[in-house]
Amino acid sequence: MEIVKTIKEIRAAVSAGRADGKRIGLVPTMGALHAGHVSLIDRAVADCDFVVVSIFVNPAQFGPNEDFDKYPRDLDADAKVCEDAGADVIFAPSAGEMYPLANCTWVDVEGITDHLCGASRAGHFRGVTTVCTKLFNIVCPDQAFFGQKDAQQAIVIKRMVADLNMPLEIVVCPTVRQEDGLALSSRNKYLTDAELKDALLISKSLKVCARAIAGGEIDSEKLIGLMKSIISGGGVDIEYLSIVDTQTLENVSKVEGQVLVAIAGRVGKTRLIDNIFVDLNK
Ligand code: PAF
Repeated sequence: MEIVKTIKEIRAAVSAGRADGKRIGLVPTMGALHAGHVSLIDRAVADCDFVVVSIFVNPAQFGPNEDFDKYPRDLDADAKVCEDAGADVIFAPSAGEMYPLANCTWVDVEGITDHLCGASRAGHFRGVTTVCTKLFNIVCPDQAFFGQKDAQQAIVIKRMVADLNMPLEIVVCPTVRQEDGLALSSRNKYLTDAELKDALLISKSLKVCARAIAGGEIDSEKLIGLMKSIISGGGVDIEYLSIVDTQTLENVSKVEGQVLVAIAGRVGKTRLIDNIFVDLNK
């Protein structure tokens, strides 16, 4: 497995693969790879013949008071994970390679980025959609793989690809959880043992919500109340707890068809998100 740092090199590697008739898969990441990322690489390896993992902590998607500086970075450890999972090449550019000039051009998906995480992270999704557009233009993958854990991100990227007729398929893979239910996230590394216990309340509340919906409860206010009763008293400071339409990301008063139950909260200084996708059509 190769590690390349320039756009010229990754384009040459991908062109060679494409010339051999290979189907190209891209797994965009910010590194600090865990089993959730491995599940994306596994899916890419299963669906494609040549798999690129990009590792780039994208400054454009962090706000001024967020964790850009302390975001975990360990290229050697990440390279081992990628190699073991069967990736063909890592693209690990510098910020100067990705943004050689002060950016004048941004990709902004409107409306759906105002809700959930977008409400408190101004400019975050603009940074994500801009860097993903750049990565899609650099790698030209047939498919790109994202995790359901970042549900709003996946919905926003799918919408961008549809709106702008980008010639690739977005594949969204299930959230990977620890045995105790905690959704895997690179930011879990920030949590102390006590905070890890508090963080479990998030997935526990989602599980209870799923059970209540399966038992026939469809009133969003009641479901949100139930979840809050589980979380409150623990060490989670809820930023939002919402039941939303999966297309518009607007709140729904009743669970009908497909909805997303989404939570963001702070445990200590760490911001965590989690969600479940509910499909009552099935
Ligand atoms: O989910 C992430 O790790 C990032 O938001 C992404 C998609 C790699 C863009 O920087």
